[in-house]
Amino acid sequence: MTDKPSYLGLLNAISNAEGDAQQYLSTWAEATQRDDVRAVISTIALREGEHSLAFAKRMCELGFDVQRREDPKCAERLAIASSCELSDLEKFEQLGLGEPEVEGCPDIFAGMFADTTIDIQTGALLGRYIAEERDSGRMFRACREALACEAAAAPAAAAPERLDRIEALLEQLVTKLGS
Ligand SMILES: [Fe+2]
Repeated sequence: MTDKPSYLGLLNAISNAEGDAQQYLSTWAEATQRDDVRAVISTIALREGEHSLAFAKRMCELGFDVQRREDPKCAERLAIASSCELSDLEKFEQLGLGEPEVEGCPDIFAGMFADTTIDIQTGALLGRYIAEERDSGRMFRACREALACEAAAAPAAAAPERLDRIEALLEQLVTKLGS
């Protein structure tokens, strides 16, 4: 029987989480109307899927199978990602993606190398994974920021349209009151 590495749970958790992320990000990429947003989300979705498989493969090489863990938030995330009502910016907000970095606060990856027994091959995979995740984080933040800037600039441009609508509604109301 193969000795169970102390970091097996970490590999299993990454494989599961990355597979879930690929699912909802692919769904979002299919749902968005914007090519620029799709380019970002699709790239990250592919990375997530590859990470899920790479960690599953590493577990197999070590002599263990992935234990599938159902994330209770998965259905909720899928519903947000596939929504036609929510804007891409709202999806970023509701999925908690592209949040600004907190200075001086270590990210969730910072402690992953704390286990000094990690073998060379797993360590190399983990290092690449962390670097790609941090790059994906930067891509998410840049995309969310651009969408937030657009949204902040939009109300002024949309104002005449809204005024027209309010005017039409007022007219309807006046007609109703007069009848
Ligand atoms: Fe990820």
